[in-house]
Amino acid sequence: MNPLERLASALPKAELHLHLEGTLEPEMTFHLARKHGAKLRFPNATALRQAYQFKNLQSFLDLYYEGAGVLRDQEDFHVLTAAYLERAVKDGVWHVEPFFDPQTHTARGIQIKEVVEGIVGALKEGEKKHGITWRLIPCFLRHLDEADARKTFDGLLPFREHFTAVGLDSSEQGNPPSKFERVFARVREAGLHVVAHAGEEGPAAYIRDALEKLKAVRIDHGVRCVEDPEMVKELARKQIPLTTCPLSNVRLGVYAGLKEHPLKKLLDAGVSVTANSDDPPYFGGYLLENWTACLRELNLEAKHLIQLAKNSFSGSFLPEKEKGKWIEKINRVGSSVG
Ligand code: HPA
Ligand code: ZN
Repeated sequence: MNPLERLASALPKAELHLHLEGTLEPEMTFHLARKHGAKLRFPNATALRQAYQFKNLQSFLDLYYEGAGVLRDQEDFHVLTAAYLERAVKDGVWHVEPFFDPQTHTARGIQIKEVVEGIVGALKEGEKKHGITWRLIPCFLRHLDEADARKTFDGLLPFREHFTAVGLDSSEQGNPPSKFERVFARVREAGLHVVAHAGEEGPAAYIRDALEKLKAVRIDHGVRCVEDPEMVKELARKQIPLTTCPLSNVRLGVYAGLKEHPLKKLLDAGVSVTANSDDPPYFGGYLLENWTACLRELNLEAKHLIQLAKNSFSGSFLPEKEKGKWIEKINRVGSSVG
């Protein structure tokens, strides 16, 4: 490890853009398929992993929703979440704000209670075992209609205490945030924050839509803001966090390679940008691999790594006092490692 890789590893980090269903490793897919007597169209885990080659967001989503079909009972959601936490600890992750997609499961007849209790049980256990704190974020699938999101939200309300925000994910093009304006008004009335995937494959205008129509306080991906220099300035001035996912963007063809990724440019412009893993086994890396790939390909300096670590906590939903403690700790690590 060179000194910058040592620093990347040692810095405390928060993961703000991670889909729990997207942490399903092929070996676990096969294990769960065997458990439930489900048939998969791949002969083994290696063949499934080899199929992780995507043209765009939709080609990934098709396989991601298919894979999620093996998650069937509370124990499955528990095991999935626990395995992710075990892996995240190794990367120096101390706080997580994972997403999950309720509609992917309720559409298959699975009770939302099974999903939520499986995930929350593992998050609580992870907090005890590893000291990792968490905030949980259900997302609406934007390829479905607003009525479905509304029905989903009604089903989530009995578990309201476990959630901090509600997000918006799935197929972006043709599904602008404004499609969900009324249901997100209800989300805010329930005292929950709004976050939204915007400006991943969709245009910069969708970022504005998410901010203005949904009152999103954090934008997931958001990389296409660079097409609108006024918006970049506004994001920097308002310190709206962007949860970018560099390896995901390359694997889904948003950028031809990491060298084209705007992460460094956005950091240098003062935008509160973070680097996250999205759906790690599908895109070839967990959090630290995203960081070290950027380090190599974008020639990041120590100051960029320290800023990424600080942004990950300042952009989180932790209380201000907690954020302050982590930022002090990052300053200490930043001056002692390298
Ligand atoms: N974009 C949109 N929806 C998703 C993604 C993503 O990167 N990952 C899982 N669901
Ligand atoms: Zn995502």
